[in-house]
Formats: sequence, C-alpha cells, structure tokens
Amino acid sequence: MPESTVITRYDELSFSLAEVPTMPLPKEALMVTPEYFTIDYVINPHMEGHVGSVDRDAARQEWEQVRDAFVQAGIKIHAIQGQAGLPDMVFCANQSLPYISENGSKHVLMSRMHADQRKDEVGFIQQWYQANAYTVHHIESDTVRDFEGMGDAIWHSGKRLIWGGYGFRSSLDAYTQVSALFDVPVVALELRHPSFYHLDTCFCMLNSKTALIYPHAFTDEGLDLIRAVIPVIVEADQYEAEALFACNATCPDGQHVIIQQGCTKVNRQLYELGFTVLEVSTDEYRKSGGSVFCMKMMVF
Ligand code: ARG
Repeated sequence: MPESTVITRYDELSFSLAEVPTMPLPKEALMVTPEYFTIDYVINPHMEGHVGSVDRDAARQEWEQVRDAFVQAGIKIHAIQGQAGLPDMVFCANQSLPYISENGSKHVLMSRMHADQRKDEVGFIQQWYQANAYTVHHIESDTVRDFEGMGDAIWHSGKRLIWGGYGFRSSLDAYTQVSALFDVPVVALELRHPSFYHLDTCFCMLNSKTALIYPHAFTDEGLDLIRAVIPVIVEADQYEAEALFACNATCPDGQHVIIQQGCTKVNRQLYELGFTVLEVSTDEYRKSGGSVFCMKMMVF
C-alpha cells in the first residue's frame, strides 16, 4: 500500500493545488428512499426536541424535490430502498467513501459509524457497491475508532485530494488509512463546534477553485489550510449555516448549487460568482441534522 500523507498544519503543506492530479467528477448518485425516515433518538444537537416529529408526506415530497434537482443538474440517481428500523439510512453520504483510480477501477471504503444506532446501515449500502463492480474495502477496526464516509471525507472538486473532518464522527487516524488506500493526500480539519459535527455541515466544494464554508466551525490551523489551498472562499453567516445548513449544499457539476431555500446572503455571493442556484426545501431532514449534501452519495 502507498504511504499516507495527512496534513493537519499549514507548515506541512507540501504541494500547490495546480500540482494535484485531476479526477473526473462523479455523474451519478445514490439516494435512499425515505419511507422509514423518522427521528427516534438524538445523536446530534439538531435532533433535540424533534423525536417523533417528522411529517412523512412532507419528507417524501422534499426527498423527491431534492432528487429532481440532482436530475436537473445532470446527475443520474440510483434509489436504494430504505430499511425499517434504520431511520437515518436516508442520509447516505455517511456509510461509504467511493473512489475511481487513474486506470478507471472503482473502489469504496465502507464506514465505521460512530453511533451504534447507525451501524447496521453500512451493510445495506455495501450491497449496492458489490452489485456495481466496486472493490469493497473496510476500515481497520483495530486502529481506527470511527469513520463516517463522505459526511467527513470530501473530495476536492475534480482533484485527487481529500478534505477530512475529524473530532465528532470520524477519528483523525481514519485518514492515514484513507490516504494510503486511495493514494491521495488528505488535508485534515478539526471540527470544534457540536452543531457542525460533520465536515459537510460547514464545508462545501463548489468547483475546483471555490468552497463555501462556515469559518467558526474550524480551528485557526484548519482555516489557514483552507485559505492556503482554495483560492475563492464564500462564507456563510451563523444563521444560514446553523439553522439553514447552507454549507450542506451540493454542487455536483461545478455550476448548479442545490441548496436549502432561504440562504439569501450565500445565494447573493453564488450569483455574483456565476453559479446557478437551485433552491429546495429540506425542513424535515434539517430536524435530524442534515440537508442536501447528506441525502446522496456521489458515485462513479
Ligand atoms: N441524524 C443523522 C446523524 O446524526 C444526520 C446525518 C446527516 N448527515 C451528514 N452527512 N451531515 O447521523
């Protein structure tokens, strides 16, 4: 296995973005159908006070709206059936991290979920990869405590580089394995605010030069790394980031940004930069601590 490169401080940065090899953007995504989506337990601060409060019809309509927005952005959707007793499985950014190698072979690293309530989701998602020509890898459980897939490990748009959040749901150690397995550097960012417990709640790649972030979710070291590597940074304010999950938007093609409706200040900046904004409602899912990004897994 190649050596690993996990960067946690500015003075460890040994490359510039221009030197990082390109990687094709995924053009397909998995979504898990929402019939069993509920809030049955509290494993992040957003879920507090919301147990039993999901409106099923609204959740179905929102899920369909999110799916249609991806289709409008040119993404092909594969729907996987939700499972009874796994109310968070609909957040399918979390159970895996897929990868396409330079020779076109497809690999996936399955997650080791932090919360016991979510551990059984992983096997169901793995079945899809097995049926679709992926080589399946697993987290080394003797050395790595937690890893929650693309919720914390986010591909730099169009580049062979991963941004890795740690502190709440994934352990820093996970990135040693991620980096070696996929032979890519990982820039690891410590998360310090419980409302922003996954990297995808506070960091969104828009295109290869641009990211949308909530700066207060990061340490000074993390912000220095983000600003050193990514030339254009759009910042969300606390309300749009924490209440509206602005940074849980998704820009699958570098042009269309699918985002929770009402993020007015972020949207103004997105328009100025030339992005096309597709607003959707994810009110039921936000009660559980997730929005657009969490509701799909980009696959190759
Ligand atoms: N209720 C889910 C949890 O706390 C929400 C996950 C949201 N997913 C995400 N990628 N942020 O695990």
